[in-house]
This record gives sequence, structure tokens and C-alpha cells, in this order.
Amino acid sequence: MSCAVRALRASWALRASRASFLCQGVAAAAAGARPQAGLLPGAAWPSSPVSGMGTVKCGLMKNFTQEEGTCHSKISIIGTGSVGMACAVSILLKGLSDELALVDINESKMVGETMDLQHGSSFVKMPKVVCSKDYRVTTSSNIVVITAGARQEKGETRLNLVQRNVAIFKLMISNIVQYSPCCKMIVVSNPVDILTYVTWKLSHFPPSHIIGSGCNLDTARFRFLIGQKLGIHSESCHGWILGEHGDSSVPVWSGVNVAGVPLKELNPHIGTDRDPEHWNNVHKEVIASAYEIIKRKGYTSWAIGLSVADLAESILRNLRRVHPVSTRVKGLYGISKDVFLSVPCVLGKGGVTDLITVRLSPEEEAGLKKSAETLWKIQEPLKL
Ligand SMILES: *[C@@H]1O[C@H](CO)[C@@H](O)[C@H](O)[C@H]1NC(C)=O
Ligand SMILES: *[C@@H]1O[C@H](CO)[C@@H](O)[C@H](O)[C@H]1NC(C)=O
Repeated sequence: MSCAVRALRASWALRASRASFLCQGVAAAAAGARPQAGLLPGAAWPSSPVSGMGTVKCGLMKNFTQEEGTCHSKISIIGTGSVGMACAVSILLKGLSDELALVDINESKMVGETMDLQHGSSFVKMPKVVCSKDYRVTTSSNIVVITAGARQEKGETRLNLVQRNVAIFKLMISNIVQYSPCCKMIVVSNPVDILTYVTWKLSHFPPSHIIGSGCNLDTARFRFLIGQKLGIHSESCHGWILGEHGDSSVPVWSGVNVAGVPLKELNPHIGTDRDPEHWNNVHKEVIASAYEIIKRKGYTSWAIGLSVADLAESILRNLRRVHPVSTRVKGLYGISKDVFLSVPCVLGKGGVTDLITVRLSPEEEAGLKKSAETLWKIQEPLKL
């Protein structure tokens, strides 16, 4: 089935669900019951009974338009844990889309979070926040952010964790694809590079539509820490962390610069063991900081949420900014396996439209290749 045909089917399904909700709403109102407003699709502006003569609403306003407001852009978030909710708040504060839909298997938590967000609607410019356990709520999303997944148990191998996540992703991805066949997916769940590959495989989407948050956060941490060292805002500290998200990430020291001045020209040993200033501690701190935060507060959330909203902004507004996100790198940097790693990617309304080919040192390239092999060893035996 083509993408357009699938989209049409999904929109029919939604219209059918809206019609039935409206009837329920009318019936409930007639019976004097109050339906829980705004949790289901179509209910952000709950419609009052059509024959509402004499009600306050009818006395207050005249309805000129027969049309329902059309939805121009929609973001869905799968998973309402701390990461999902940090993404939600960051997206709401940026006013990125007309509609935000949340999905979780924990209905109580999901409804509570949604109500809490809805009550903040006076302070944001996104009129519609909805949720459901049913993926139909995500129909016609432009972007679906995936934060759900199994957490690593104590002593559990990475392979075992991945296999458990594959089981969860099978159901999740087929649902997302059914209702939003043209969406771009941003995968945040860990291990992110592997689960981005899994999402790509399960969705049968083109690789350009599947984006792993990858080293976007590692890079943000890197820039922050360089900024702290120099007393300069992190946005003006240019530098990239590429490759595998987490412990094996590769800092590209040759490219680190402020205002076009490469720090390597001032300190030829920067990032190496021979560097008297020990700049490589910045990268070590990037890696350690995730563990440090988890030790102190139990999870990380705010920075990942902000960084995901930044990716969503580039896609929805077709900004074509360059971000270090996880994408299919087969054929680059001597990598022959089907793996996803972070490289600088141009993000626009088509998802990842271009990759920037970075000139890496032999050690940096070896780092990427090693990650590719490690990831492939985990991916190869997966039953997809
Ligand atoms: C206005 O009326 C139309 C048709 O009667 C209805 O579909 C629409 O939801 C109404 N709009 C509002 C804001 O009540
Ligand atoms: C649902 O979420 C709430 C709040 O985080 C938690 O207390 C509860 O244990 C969760 N339920 C399940 C079944 O995971």
C-alpha cells in the first residue's frame, strides 16, 4: 500500500472515531453526565449538544463556521515517563504543533500527565493535548517520538535488553505505521542506535524518515562543558560528538572551534593523552555525566527533552539545520554493516535529507568502525 493510500485510510478511521465520540458526548450530556473532557481525539474543544438553545454558550456566542478546525501539524509521543514528559513540555513551550498526542500502556499515569499538561494551556499556544492507550490517537502525526521501552535490569546483558525491546517495538511500530504512514520517527529509547535500526527494519520506512536522537545530547553536553571552561555560551562553542551514543562516542577534536578558530591550532595535542591541559577530560565528563545524574536524581530528562524538541523543530519548520543524529551509515567511513550511528545530518521536512561527510582522523574513523562492529554483533542475531 502506498504512503498516501495508507494516510487516507488512517484519516477515515479517525473521522469514524470522532463521529462516535461526538455521539457519546451528546448522549452523556443528555443524561446529565459529564464526559472527561479532552483526553480523546476530537475532544480538545468539547462540543456542546447541537440543540443547545438557551444555554450559556448559545447566549454568549454565535457559531459562523460549519467547518471543524483542521489540524496542520501533530506530534505524538510514545511513553509518558520522565523522558517522554520532558519532550512533551519542551515541545509545548516551543508551540511546535497544533496537536500533541500521548500514548502509554500505563493509563493512569498517562491520563494524569495529560490532565496536568492541559491545565497549563493558558500559558502555551498549543490548543490540543490528547492521550489514549489506543494508537488511533496518533493518527496523521507528522512526527512520532519514541521514548517507550524496557529498562535494563540489574545484571542483564545488552543483547537480552535489546531482544526484550524488539518485542515491545514490534507492536508499537506497526501501530505507529498504520496510523501515520508518512510520519518521521525520532527514536529516543536506549540503546538508541540499535533501536533506531530496529525501528527502521520493522517500519519498512525509508532511512531518511527514521532519526535516532543519538549523539545530539552528547554533543550538547560537550558544548556546554567547553563553554564552561572558556566562559562562552555553549551555542558559540562548536564541536561534535559522533558515532555511538554513550560510552563509545567519538569527540571530533579537529573540528572544535570558537568563531572559526580551531582549538587544535592553539593546542596541537588537544584531546590526546599528551595534552598538558587535559581537554579530553571534557569528553570523559560527557560520558560520566549521564551516570552522575542517574545516581543523583534517578534518571535524566530535561536536556534530552529539550534536545528532542530542537530536532522536531528542524523537521516541522523545514529548517535544514545540521544535527548529530543517528542515521544509516552503511558505506561511509569504511562501514559495511547495516548500522545506525550519529553523523552530522541535515534535518528538514523530509527527515534526514543529507549527511555531512566529516574529515575524521584515522583514530576517529577507527572508533566509528569499532562501534559499528560492536553494534552489528548485537543486531545480527536479532529476530525481527
Ligand atoms: C459550529 O457548528 C458546526 C456545525 O454545527 C460544528 O461542527 C462546530 O463544531 C461548531 N463550532 C464550535 C466552536 O462550536
Ligand atoms: C503507573 O504509573 C504510576 C505512576 O508513575 C506508578 O505508580 C504505577 O506503578 C504504574 N503502574 C504500572 C502498572 O506500571
